[in-house]
Amino acid sequence: MTTSRRAFLGTLATPFIASRLPAIEARASAPAAPPKPRMPAEIGSPTSPDFWKKLRAEFTIPRDEVFFNTGTMGSSPLAVQEAVINHMRHVDRDIAKWDYKADHEQYFTGYFDELATRDALAKILNCSGKDLALTQNATFGMNFVAHGLELKAGDEVIVMQNAHTGGRRGFDLRAKRDGIVVKEFLPKDPVPDPDTLIKHYTDLTTSRTKVWAIPHITSARAIRFPVKRLCTMARERGIFSTVDGAQCVGHIAVDLQDLGCDAYFSSPHKWLLSPKGTGIFYLRPEHQKSIWCTLASGHYDDVDDPMLRMQAYGTGNLSLLKGLDVAIAFHQQIGSKVIEDRIVGLADRLRDGLKKIPGATIVSPTHPELRCATTLYGINGMKGTQLMDYLWQSKIRVRANGDLARHGCHIYNSEEDVDRTLALLSKAAKA
Ligand SMILES: Cc1ncc(COP(=O)(O)O)c(C=O)c1O
Repeated sequence: MTTSRRAFLGTLATPFIASRLPAIEARASAPAAPPKPRMPAEIGSPTSPDFWKKLRAEFTIPRDEVFFNTGTMGSSPLAVQEAVINHMRHVDRDIAKWDYKADHEQYFTGYFDELATRDALAKILNCSGKDLALTQNATFGMNFVAHGLELKAGDEVIVMQNAHTGGRRGFDLRAKRDGIVVKEFLPKDPVPDPDTLIKHYTDLTTSRTKVWAIPHITSARAIRFPVKRLCTMARERGIFSTVDGAQCVGHIAVDLQDLGCDAYFSSPHKWLLSPKGTGIFYLRPEHQKSIWCTLASGHYDDVDDPMLRMQAYGTGNLSLLKGLDVAIAFHQQIGSKVIEDRIVGLADRLRDGLKKIPGATIVSPTHPELRCATTLYGINGMKGTQLMDYLWQSKIRVRANGDLARHGCHIYNSEEDVDRTLALLSKAAKA
C-alpha cells in the first residue's frame, strides 16, 4: 500500500469504515486463483512411480509445509474444497428461486434421507446405505449409542481409561445420571500383542456387563484393536459392541460386515479428508429400531428408514455433504487398501528410522496387527511441545501428546518428508 493511501485511510476513523479495512487489505493481497482440481483417476494409477507426488498438488497445504497431524483433522483436497464452496455460493445466490415444491432441489440437510451419500459411503464400508446415518462427527455417534441403549443402574460398560472423550463420555454421563457402572482398563505401553487387549475386556466382564466400548484405533497411543475378535466374543456373551472408528475411515480399510460390530461411528473429516463437521454412524440392522434416538425431530419414529431417526437433527449444511460426496469419490478412486498400504508403509519407514536413533522411544505398538499409520514417540526426555516446536522450526507439523509426539502419515506425505523428519530427530537426539 502506498504511503499516501495509508495516510488517507488513517483519517477514516469511524468504526464502520475501520471494520472494513481488513477485507480491503485481504482483497488487495488475495492469492492467485487455485488451479483446477483434479480427481485421482485423472492423475493416473497409484502404481505409477510419480502418482503420489502428483497427488500432492491436489492439496493446498503450502509446498514447504509438511502436515503429519491428520489424527486431529485432515486437509481436504482441492476438489472437496471447491465442491463445498461452490455449493455454498449456489445456495446463497439462488435461494430466492427456491419454491419449496417437491421437485426443487433441497438446500439443507437434517430433514431428508440423503440416501445417495449414504449409499456411496456404504460401498467403502461394506454395508447398506440404510444402515448408516450422517451425523456431524464421531462424538454424535458415541452419544447416540450411550443414550439410546436401554441401560439401568448396575449395568456395566467396559471402556479404555484414556479413550478419547468423544469415544466414552456419554457412558460416564449415564453413570452419573442413571447409575450404570463404567469399568476401565489401561493398556501398558507399548502393547505387545492382540491377546493382551482382549484380556482387558474378558477380565473385567461379569454377568452385569452389557456393553464393550471398543476403540478401533486409539487417539492417545495409536493402538489398532483386534476389533473383529472382540466383537465376535462380545456377541457370544450377549454383550453389545460399540466401536469408535474416528481414526479409521480413510486410514485403514473398514469392512463393517466383517468386523461384526453392533455400532460403529467415525469422523470422516480426519482420514477421509472430508469437510469439517461430517460424521458417520452405523447400527447393525437388528438394532436399528430398538435404539432410541437422542435428538428427536420429524423422523423420530420412522420404521421404514430407522437410521433416519439418527440424522434428523434440524437444519444442517448441505454444502458439507457435497464435499463429503467428493471426498468419498476421491478416496474410492485410489482405494481403501491402496491407501492403507501406502500410509502404513510410510509409518513403517518412520518407525524403522526411529529404531536406529539412540534416545528415540516408540510408544505406539509395532506388532504387525496393532500398528497403523500413526506413531507416538519420544526423544531423549524432550517434552512433547518441545519436540513439536522444534520440528515446526523446519515447517513439519506433528502434535504434542504429553512427553511424546504423535505423527500420522497420510497420502499428502512422502518418503522425503519422513526422511527429513528422521534427520531432524536424529540431530535432536544427539544434542
Ligand atoms: C479415537 C477418537 N474418538 C473420538 C474422537 C472425537 O472426534 P470428533 O471430535 O470428530 O467427534 C476423536 C477425535 O480426535 C478420536 O481420536
